[in-house]
Amino acid sequence: MPRISRRITNHLLKKNQLLPLLYRDNRISELAESDLRILKSHILQHASLKNSPTRQFKYLKSLCERRARAEPLEHIIGTAQFYDVEILSGRGALIPRTETESMVMRLCDDLKNYHFVNKKRRRNLGNSFRVLDLCTGSGPIALLMAKQLYELDLPYGFRILGVDVSESALKLATRSLEYNIKKGILPKEARRDVGFRQGDVLNPEPSIYGDGEDRGLNHLGKSEVHDEIKSFFVNECQVDYGPMVDIVIANPPYISANGYWEDTERSVRLYEPEIALVPPEKRPDNIADDVLREDIFYPAIEEFATYFKSKAIIFETGGDKQSSRVKAMLESRGWETGTWKDYRGIHRNVVGWRKETGWNWLLLPSKDGMSYD
Ligand SMILES: C[S@@+](CC[C@H](N)C(=O)[O-])C[C@H]1O[C@@H](n2cnc3c(N)ncnc32)[C@H](O)[C@@H]1O
Repeated sequence: MPRISRRITNHLLKKNQLLPLLYRDNRISELAESDLRILKSHILQHASLKNSPTRQFKYLKSLCERRARAEPLEHIIGTAQFYDVEILSGRGALIPRTETESMVMRLCDDLKNYHFVNKKRRRNLGNSFRVLDLCTGSGPIALLMAKQLYELDLPYGFRILGVDVSESALKLATRSLEYNIKKGILPKEARRDVGFRQGDVLNPEPSIYGDGEDRGLNHLGKSEVHDEIKSFFVNECQVDYGPMVDIVIANPPYISANGYWEDTERSVRLYEPEIALVPPEKRPDNIADDVLREDIFYPAIEEFATYFKSKAIIFETGGDKQSSRVKAMLESRGWETGTWKDYRGIHRNVVGWRKETGWNWLLLPSKDGMSYD
């Protein structure tokens, strides 16, 4: 890593003696200043340091030194703000990104502005509204959706299930749920309405209840993860027909092996799990050979959406090219599709819905002015 010039160091030192440490990793002085503000307010929360400016400074300096070694700010302070929920942060899971926050908020705003304005749809055939968040990580999508859906006060409520293969990520998700309840950000009913389960979406373990054959939604038997999903969503209101899930949403690993080395920052490679970013080299048997390694989660997740008769599917992707491949894959499997652009004009999300659901509101212009196709 190139040395920081004496001119820049002097400029930073004039403002604060700790700023050069915070500048070392990201090389943007505004970011270094913002990190310093956040770290200062973080140490003020430590009651034990309250009356000791010397100990406060020593502690602040130790945090700045960790940041200088490229440790993400969210790991140092322990949480990441994800719109209006807080997600516990640590080496076991990806730190949630702003692109993901925008996807969730766009979906929730559109549900509010277009979908649930229809009274029949609000009643959702007498069932709770059901969201399946595959590759949930530390649970940011599930928890932010929960926060937003509580505000809608749906007649039959909602259920959100997050599934991930990583035990450490799921521990953070479960602790994040409790953390948000304790802070009063989510109500205590969230313990009932939001769940997290371990499961491998690429290679689901065969179910102990059956021979791997799909014997319909009311029976267990396809795979262990399918069974877990069914048991979570089934309740006494569940009718014998119709979708078991309303929306499947996923931000899966989607970076190519080369992209991981060429495009990700050092701090990402040092502190965030590779399994959260790059799909495995060994592809599952049911994924065609011509599917690029970075795309393999999308068809696997689509199979879950089809199995659970989801009305819609929302994906985050790496950008324009991947979005157009994922869109084509969904169309070839009978979905109506569209894409959403992010604030930089990149096609960042692919949305799909079944024609008979009439969910083409997914392509109406977002009311917050975000562009779309
Ligand atoms: C890009 S991260 C997304 C995390 C979180 N949903 C978010 O948006 O911040 C992808 C997640 O997929 C999980 N994952 C990787 N392989 C998986 C698999 N085979 N089955 C289920 N989850 C998997 C990783 O553990 C990681 O948490």
